[in-house]
Amino acid sequence: MKPFAAIDQGTTSTRVLLAGAGAAAQVLLALRHGQHYPHPGWVEHAPLEIWANVQACLHAAGQVQAIGIANQGESCLAWDARSGAPLSPVIVWQDNRTEQQLAQLRAEGAQALTLERAGLPLDSYFSAAKLGWLLRHDAAVAQAHRRGRLRLGTTDAFLLERLTGQFVTDATTASRTSLMNLASAAWDPALCALFGVPMECLPRIVPTVGEFGSYCGTAVTASIVDQQAALYGHGCRAAGEAKITFGTGAFALALTGAQIVRAPALGLLPTLAWQIGGQITYALDGGVYDAGAAVEWAARLGLFQELAELAAFSAAPAIARGLVFVPALSGLACPHWDRSAAALWLGMNAATTRQDLCQALLEGVAMRAAQVIRAMAGHVGMASRLAIDGGLARNPYFCQFLADMLGRTIVTSRFDERTALGCAALAARGAGQLLPTQADDMADSFEPRITPGQAQDWQLRFDAAVSKTMGWKREPSGPAP
Ligand code: G3P
Repeated sequence: MKPFAAIDQGTTSTRVLLAGAGAAAQVLLALRHGQHYPHPGWVEHAPLEIWANVQACLHAAGQVQAIGIANQGESCLAWDARSGAPLSPVIVWQDNRTEQQLAQLRAEGAQALTLERAGLPLDSYFSAAKLGWLLRHDAAVAQAHRRGRLRLGTTDAFLLERLTGQFVTDATTASRTSLMNLASAAWDPALCALFGVPMECLPRIVPTVGEFGSYCGTAVTASIVDQQAALYGHGCRAAGEAKITFGTGAFALALTGAQIVRAPALGLLPTLAWQIGGQITYALDGGVYDAGAAVEWAARLGLFQELAELAAFSAAPAIARGLVFVPALSGLACPHWDRSAAALWLGMNAATTRQDLCQALLEGVAMRAAQVIRAMAGHVGMASRLAIDGGLARNPYFCQFLADMLGRTIVTSRFDERTALGCAALAARGAGQLLPTQADDMADSFEPRITPGQAQDWQLRFDAAVSKTMGWKREPSGPAP
């Protein structure tokens, strides 16, 4: 029996995991790709570099039974329908070039439509405005459109068409564009008109598990957003089960079953967890833009050399000493949705050390995640255990602090590649097989050690710091944008 291959095409790397066939799941190859910042706030990837990495990963996988692909969600591009050649870079989910246009749309009251139809606020995170921007600002894209040769889509659609010849996207990825009607899982003409995205240029929306065609004779049987794949990979199946993945950003997803749960006042996003057969399962999503990204930034600044330096601190928590970091390097997502917010350290004095700044940074990421989970818990009956994965899940100080702030048990897995594992399990499901994902490989569990009152005091202090960061880039006396 051959194993299944899952490609995890993420923001910073492309990796391939083999699972099934009786062997322990393992990542065979991980390839990083370039991050390009042509202007402040713009973030791009080279489509052909990602394509080459996907091919290299599949080559490394060898003979497999079926392939699944997880993608980075909202990142999108334009390409030529006839040649398949990219017409634009990948505009990455973090990119905020469309912020001005969206501010205008918000001022005109258009957010009521996006919230009602797509479940999403008007934020540059999502693909819709990016795709409209490409058509308006890129001559090659506009020309391809005039010639009837334009394809617009998220990275999955670009990769799937190259792999199998099918121009499709799955319903989870489509739900991140802000062009799909969440209830019907079909492109919404009013949303496409709002963002100036011609519907005929978009891929066909298909279920998460099914027939995506074949690559070199091997069937592709699943395609899904990476966050949703991680949710599946943590074994979450019932409403209320949730996970947080601490990658570049931190993304919390809690299953809500067949129900679309709307909580726009709290800034939570109803999203599609997966569509299997005719059945759609929904989730509530809350994102923090900067998690691992903030840690990497601190490393670039020289605040620490080795990750091991961040595993333990001898001093009391920074927040207890009045030192706070708000990780709003790319603005604030859930529950604030403020791209004009800026990162902040508050409470330094002459005795503050680099270690103190690092400690506050970790705590700031945890407290942003806690803001999200608090908002979620008001809408979903959430389980008392929360599964986490990603780089920060390997940091004991961070995990304990998160458990303290949430008042919940935090569980980490020995095998941390939950995105790829979930994707492989879905690919197996598409091939009519069952691949276990239940967390039987718990690495550690962290119980809250402080009182709820203490956690609330710290959270209030943090919330106060967050409110100081909001609107900062709009202030006339603030730095030039
Ligand atoms: O919404 C963006 C998110 O899905 C990207 O995740 O792991 O590629 O940083 P990651």
